[in-house]
Amino acid sequence: MKRHSSREFSRIYQSKLSRFLGIALLCALIGAAASAHAQAAPQTPAILLGTAWYPEQWPESRWDADLALMQQAGIHMVRVGEFAWSRMEPSEGHYDLDWLDRAVAAAAKHGIVTVIGTPSAAPPAWLTQKYPETLRTMEDGRKDQHGNRQQFDFANAKYRELSRAMAEQLAKRFGHNPNVVGWQIDNEYANASYGAEDKAQFQQWLKQRYGTLDNLNTRWTTSYWSETYFDWNQVPIQTAYGNPGLLLSWMRFVSDTWRSYQKNQLEVIRANVDPKQFVTTNMMGWFDGYDHYTVAQDLDLASWDDYVGQGHLDPVRNGAAHDLTRGLKGKNFWVMETQPGGVNWADINNWLDKGEVRAMAWHDIGHGADTVSYWQWRSALNGQEQYHGTAVGPDGTPDPLYPEIAQIGREFEKASPVLAGTSVKSEVAILHSYDSRWAIQWQKHNKNYDPVKEIVSFYGPLRALSQSVDVVPPSASLEKYKLVVAPGLNVLTEADAKNLIQYVNNGGHLVLGQRSAMKDIDNGLWPDRQPGPLTELLGGRVEQYYALVDPAPIEGQWGAGESPMWAELLSAKDADVEVLMRYGKSNGWLDGQPAAITRKVGKGRITYIGAWLDPKTMDGAAKWMTEVSGVKAALGPVPTGVEVYPRYGAKGAVYILANFATAPAGVKLPSIMNDVLNGGAVQTITLPHYGVAVVSAEK
Ligand code: GAL
Repeated sequence: MKRHSSREFSRIYQSKLSRFLGIALLCALIGAAASAHAQAAPQTPAILLGTAWYPEQWPESRWDADLALMQQAGIHMVRVGEFAWSRMEPSEGHYDLDWLDRAVAAAAKHGIVTVIGTPSAAPPAWLTQKYPETLRTMEDGRKDQHGNRQQFDFANAKYRELSRAMAEQLAKRFGHNPNVVGWQIDNEYANASYGAEDKAQFQQWLKQRYGTLDNLNTRWTTSYWSETYFDWNQVPIQTAYGNPGLLLSWMRFVSDTWRSYQKNQLEVIRANVDPKQFVTTNMMGWFDGYDHYTVAQDLDLASWDDYVGQGHLDPVRNGAAHDLTRGLKGKNFWVMETQPGGVNWADINNWLDKGEVRAMAWHDIGHGADTVSYWQWRSALNGQEQYHGTAVGPDGTPDPLYPEIAQIGREFEKASPVLAGTSVKSEVAILHSYDSRWAIQWQKHNKNYDPVKEIVSFYGPLRALSQSVDVVPPSASLEKYKLVVAPGLNVLTEADAKNLIQYVNNGGHLVLGQRSAMKDIDNGLWPDRQPGPLTELLGGRVEQYYALVDPAPIEGQWGAGESPMWAELLSAKDADVEVLMRYGKSNGWLDGQPAAITRKVGKGRITYIGAWLDPKTMDGAAKWMTEVSGVKAALGPVPTGVEVYPRYGAKGAVYILANFATAPAGVKLPSIMNDVLNGGAVQTITLPHYGVAVVSAEK
C-alpha cells in the first residue's frame, strides 16, 4: 500500500515553511554558516532538548521537514541508529553508512547535533540465520528468535565479534564528525542468556572468584540439602529459590558480562573517536537486571530512560531514580528517553495531563539532567510501537503536545546560560545496593515487602526537608554528607562496613533502616545478629524480626503510628543507647520493646530503625534525622506539593521549582531573585498545578 506520496511530503513541508517563515530563515542562516565552515559543529545550548529519530524509517525526501519541525521546537539533539543494523550492514561485511552521514549532515543544517547508537540491540535476520548460536537461550531453554529485539546472547563470542565490527565501522566513519557529540552503546541492556555457553562462562567466572571448590562450598554452606559441588561444571544457573550465594553470584556474573559486552564495543569506539565525544548507554532507573555500578564505571556519562507508564509522574519515585542515575558517575547525567505524553506498554496508556510533560522535563533538569530527549519523534507506520506517544502524528504534522514541547525547547534555550556548568550538591545521601535489593527480593518474607518502596519511603520525606538527596552505593566516599541513610542495606560487605564505621567515627550520622546488615558478601547470614559488623558501634542489635499480617502500633519521639508489614525487635545493650520509638501492644513479643534506637559516638551518631514506618511517622523520623544532623532545606520552606531542585555553579545557586499539588501554590523566596524564564526580579511566585519557575540568586 502506498502510504506517502512525495507530493504529500512536499505539501506538509511547504505549509510548515509558510507557517514558520522566521524559523526557516534561521535554518537558512545556520545552513549557510554550516556550509561556510563545513567542520564547525552547531552551537547548542548547555541544556539540550532532544528526540529519538529514525531516518531509516522514512523517505529521505521527508527528513528536512521533520528536522525543520524539530528545530522550530527548540530540539538540538537527535539520537539515531540504535536499531538500524539491517540498514547499516544489509549483508555480512557490506556496510552502508552513507545514508547516516547524510542524516547527520541534514540535522546539523538545522542546528541539531547527533548521538549515534550502536545497533546491537537489534541484529539483522541474516546474522541470526547464519549464526544461530548468537541467539540467546531463554530461561526455559528455548531459543529466542528474530522479529523482536534483544534476541542476542550477551556472552556469545561470535555475536561480540560481529557487533564490535559494526561499532568499529560507525566509530571510524563518525568519530571525528563535529556534528556527532556522543555514542550510546546498544539499548537498555536487559535480557540475560541461560544456555550451555553462558553456563560454562559462569562456571569459569566462579572459579576465578572463589579459587577452589572448597572455598565456594564453605562460603555458600553447600552442606545444606546436599548441595556440595565436586566439579565446577556441576554448578547450575538459578535465578530464584536457589542457594543465596549461587543466586547472588549469578547476578554478579550477569553484571560483569554486560560490562564486558559493553567494553567489547567501547574499546573500538574509544580507539577511533575524538575524546570529546562521550560514550554512554541508556539505563532504566530502578531496573535491577544487573548492577548498574558495575556497568557504569567504564562510561563517560550516565543516562536513563525516564517513563511514567500508567498514571502520572510520581516526582518522588522518579526523582529518586534520577538521583540514582546521577550517583552512577557522581555527576550530571542525561535523560536519553522520556515519554512525549504517553506510552504503548502500560496497562492503560493514559496521556500525561496538559502541562505535565513540561513539569516532568524541569523535574529531570532539577535532578541534574543536562538533556531531556523524547522517545520518539514520530511513530513508524508499522512495527510494534505504533500507539506510542510522539511529537508529530503519522501524517507528519504536529500533535497537540507539540507546542508544549516547543515551550520546553524555548525555556531550555533561555535558561541555558544560567544553568551551564551547574550541578547538584546534597547534604543527605541514601545508600543503595543491588546486592541488597536482590537479596530481599529473593526472600521477601512478607510478599508486600518491596525494597524499592522501602528506599523511597525514606527518600520522599528526606528530600522534601533537605530539597536535595544523593543516592550512592555503600562504598562511596561519604565525608561530605551530614546524614547518610541506609534503608534495607541487607547485604553489607566487610569493606563497606568499614566505610560506614569510619563515617560515624569522623562525625557523620548513619541511619540504618529495617533489614540492614544481615548478610555478608556471599549473601550468607552474618553470624552476629543485625546489624552484623555494626553491632558494636550501635551498642544494640536486632533480637528478632517479624513479618506482620496485622500492623504493629509504634509510639515515641516521632509520634504515634504503626508498622504495616515488618517489625524488628531491638535491644539497647549499652547504657548510652537511647530508645526513640517503641512498639505498642502487638504479638506479645514486640509489646513495649524498642523499635528505633540511637547512639552518639563522639561527634557522630548511629541510629537503627527496625519498623517499616507509616508515612506520618516517617515524616516525624525524617524531621528528627535532619534536625539532629544539622541538615537544612536548600532554599527554605515551600508549600506541600512544591518541589525545589537546587543546582550550583560558579555564579551561585539556581533553583528550579515545580508544583505537583493540584491547587496553585504561593512561594515566598528568602530574597529577591532573578526570574530566569520570565525575566525581571521576583520574591513571591505563584505556581499553578504543574507550574514551573527557575530563579537564580546571581547578582
Ligand atoms: C524504551 C526503549 C525504546 C522504546 C521505548 C518505548 O524502553 O528503549 O526503544 O521502545 O521504551 O517506551
